[in-house]
Amino acid sequence: MNDILPGESLTWQYVEGCFRSVVKSFGYQEIRFPVLEQTQLFKRSIGEVTDIVEKEMYSFDDRNGDNLSLRPEGTAGCVRAADQHGLLYNQQQRLWYQGPMFRHERPQKGRYRQFHQFGVEAFGMPGPDIDVEVLQLAHQLWLKLGLLPHVQLEINNIGSSEDRKRYAAALTAFLEQHEASLDEDAKRRMHSNPMRVLDSKNPQVQEILADAPALADYVSDDSVEHYQQLQALLRGLGIEFRENPRLVRGLDYYNNCVYEWTTEALGAQGAVCGGGRYDGLVAQLGGRDTVAAGFAIGIERLVLMLESLDLVPEQARRAIDVYLIMVGDNLTAQGLALAAQLRQALPDAGIVSHCGGGKYNSQVKKAFNAGARLAVILERRDSGSEAVQHLRLRRLDSDDEAITVELAEVVDKVREMLAAS
Ligand code: HAM
Repeated sequence: MNDILPGESLTWQYVEGCFRSVVKSFGYQEIRFPVLEQTQLFKRSIGEVTDIVEKEMYSFDDRNGDNLSLRPEGTAGCVRAADQHGLLYNQQQRLWYQGPMFRHERPQKGRYRQFHQFGVEAFGMPGPDIDVEVLQLAHQLWLKLGLLPHVQLEINNIGSSEDRKRYAAALTAFLEQHEASLDEDAKRRMHSNPMRVLDSKNPQVQEILADAPALADYVSDDSVEHYQQLQALLRGLGIEFRENPRLVRGLDYYNNCVYEWTTEALGAQGAVCGGGRYDGLVAQLGGRDTVAAGFAIGIERLVLMLESLDLVPEQARRAIDVYLIMVGDNLTAQGLALAAQLRQALPDAGIVSHCGGGKYNSQVKKAFNAGARLAVILERRDSGSEAVQHLRLRRLDSDDEAITVELAEVVDKVREMLAAS
């Protein structure tokens, strides 16, 4: 697991806030489902012969002897939960989720064994309009985060499951002719999941594949039409894309259009978002026939991108706006009450009330270290026989002198000064 420390978590909160506001503006509703599921769910949805299921799941037997796995992705659990609670029966649904996912991959920058995704899944809409809507949603998020110039959309048409069955048969027949020259991995997958052979990293296998049948030649007319309409809609919206015939995705449930948003800002881990249609999955998992489409975004990758490109707005980097300093005896109760009053009036500001006493200089130092923009200074000084109370405001992001204010005007003044800095 990649630990998320306070500085990074501010970027995280910012990203989350932007995602939440985008899904809300598209009318998507949140769904939550468990981190643990029956291992069988993932085998049946993602596919037995995939890297995720073969090598990457954290699976174990629980006390009842049930084999469970930490979810490696969200689509399977989302479909299971939505179907089990009757959300998919004869209805359209637009859902979103976020949370941790687990894959036993080799960790490196941007690739972790516990990582987090934002996901959206839309059910019950067969046309390319919904594919484009979810792409438009991702596009809107990139726009909001300032990432649009740094991501590229790659799309491909992998046909219907029947098309892929015909193609798989042709590919297996082709691979059988070259069996002697294939490696062990390719030989094993040649019958169980021949399309995974296309992903082989072995140059010798890739050389053989150069003459292999092409998926595009097996894709049915319906699928081609869907794909063409989708492209026309994307063009109409000005959403740029590139066709990548080699894009097959590592999960078996997809059909027709699949896609990835990739970036060059992250080195080797270039995929920020991946998804597509999965019209057969609900029925395959025991539900009624329900078409579906969706994607998931890697949150750590988004956070890394925003930080490396310096795209996090100053405001979002700041956890603390106001630091309340108290100098003099017996000011604690009054100080805490003042802090409460400020919090009520300025609910979006971070207001820290100093604890532990100390001299003015040491408290100001703490205010600077906390990154506050403004110090509210409550002081009591002895003046002859009387103790006189002062309230001052000091900007910490400029050299301006502190100003004295009355208690009755402090809230308005703080609001004004925060707005101005
Ligand atoms: P995926 O392409 O496997 O798709 O993952 C989606 C995103 O999760 C990736 O693009 C990447 O940003 C992030 N990600 C994946 N693995 C890791 C990792 N080990 N460390 C950090 N980030 C990672 C799915 O999971 C599908 N469920 C997406 C989907 C939803 N398709 C339809 N609906």
